[in-house]
Amino acid sequence: MQRFPRLCAPLEIAPLRLANRVTRAPLFTALATVEGHVSGPMLAHYGELAHSGASMVVVANALVDPAGSLSPRSLRVDHDRFLPGLKRLAQAIRAHGAVSVLQINHGGRYARSRDPVAPSAMGLGDINLLGIWRSSLQSQDLDRQLALMSEGLQLLSRLPRALSAEEIGAVQRRYAAAARRVRQAGFDMVEIHGANGYLPVQFFSPRTNHRRDRYGGSLENRMRFFLELFDAVQDAVGRGFPVGCRLMLEEWVPGGVELAEALVLAERLAQRGVAYLSVTAGTYESSWSVEVRKRTRRVGFLAAAAHLVKQRVAVPVIVAGRIATPKLAERILRDGAADLVGLARPLLADPQWPAKAFSGGGQGIRLCRDCGGCFQRVLLSQPVACRHWPPGRHAEWVLMCREAEKPALKVLIALDGSRDALLGVGYAARMLAGRKDVRITLFHVRANDAPLEVIREAFAVARRQLIDSGLPETAITDRQVARKVGTARDILEEIRRGGYGTVVIGRRGLTRAKQFLFGSVSQKVVQNARECAVWVVD
Ligand SMILES: Cc1cc2nc3c(=O)[nH]c(=O)nc-3n(C[C@H](O)[C@H](O)[C@H](O)COP(=O)(O)O)c2cc1C
Repeated sequence: MQRFPRLCAPLEIAPLRLANRVTRAPLFTALATVEGHVSGPMLAHYGELAHSGASMVVVANALVDPAGSLSPRSLRVDHDRFLPGLKRLAQAIRAHGAVSVLQINHGGRYARSRDPVAPSAMGLGDINLLGIWRSSLQSQDLDRQLALMSEGLQLLSRLPRALSAEEIGAVQRRYAAAARRVRQAGFDMVEIHGANGYLPVQFFSPRTNHRRDRYGGSLENRMRFFLELFDAVQDAVGRGFPVGCRLMLEEWVPGGVELAEALVLAERLAQRGVAYLSVTAGTYESSWSVEVRKRTRRVGFLAAAAHLVKQRVAVPVIVAGRIATPKLAERILRDGAADLVGLARPLLADPQWPAKAFSGGGQGIRLCRDCGGCFQRVLLSQPVACRHWPPGRHAEWVLMCREAEKPALKVLIALDGSRDALLGVGYAARMLAGRKDVRITLFHVRANDAPLEVIREAFAVARRQLIDSGLPETAITDRQVARKVGTARDILEEIRRGGYGTVVIGRRGLTRAKQFLFGSVSQKVVQNARECAVWVVD
């Protein structure tokens, strides 16, 4: 006898068939390249999720417009040049038999663009800085705490511009064009992100929409943007192609969206033919409040609200929100609160959640502890990870993300004409001997008084040593820059700019007194270089 008969039951979302009731709810990963393309780690991440046994995987938060960008690591779907990567992503999910969905979004007033737009020119004064500080304290890392506070302050300082009526039409057309690309890329469905306080919610909420035209004021007017958007997207992809919606049921901020109005919007979307409603609650402004944190700590905290939606609409309802165990998921389905469960963090914590549920009755699932670590990372545009992964998995993942970004074999060798620097070159030549896939930059920070002959000679000797060890001549580049701030700082700037995975530097033989007073260049590089290996050769 099956232990979780409802969880295992298939479901049709015409024309698709989902193999079971476990879906991967969208979770922004900050894994796209800085240009917004699909990256290797992103393919690996979503491939693993699709392989987990979940019947449907939603890829989170692809931008319909760079002006609505939430992170320099956002995936983009606003141009055809992103199609090749998106095709590979859809394929990586479908290859494992899961239904592939791409969620499309515009950040509106939350966007980190130069010219953020929104229904009304309303800043983010309600952001709970104290709450951000409190949540940052869960991290032991002071750098991270400060970075989170700085993010909070930046959110606070953002003031969007109100969209004109013509611009509203243009934004909707961007969603439509993006949806067309989703279909072209081979995804099975497209999902409009109508939650977490993003642009559709900003129009729907009486708190953030103060317009006096046909998009503001009455409920009818505030729903208009979302409903027109849905129609535009559905028209763009054609009637037979399923369009789902993420829908925020409550804003949890005074004066914000309340359940009664959200239920009306749910009904309207269902009447228009939405493929499913994936329900959630809260925005950036609410999620750090003590009261909301208390509420969202409870397992299955959205099940009751989802149930109300389910009683009002005939389309499939997906519910997320700390559905920690298969037992709880089964109960939610049995009670008729939803048709599908959405797992965002639980599936991040343990991508084997579905497999363990289906074959082992849920034994051995690594539970999400609601620590906020994943959210902190993506807020800082760092690749998503779970603090509770076993150390081996964590290290492997971080290194894979780093390798995609800063390949270990992209090497900077700092040269200053000294014997110590040439020792570094010799060491690197031995370590890398014979490699054909290495790229080396010989880098020198030029001071005004440096004798040019000495440097020229150092470059020639270094180059010869490397070539003699079997490295291809074409793999070696020279680069000199004039000293701007100080040698160490200039090297650090080059490391950051060039995306080097390995840095080689000789330690100069300073006297102890000089080292104590001024610090050595190598010491400063070691202390301040981030996300790369530094070989100091003595
Ligand atoms: C790090 C993080 C990123 C998220 N990104 C998205 C997103 O891009 N789109 C979205 O609709 N919801 C997003 N969510 C919300 C989740 O889909 C989900 O509704 C919420 O985390 C509660 O479900 P869970 O307990 O299964 O994680 C995100 C949540 C987290 C923690």
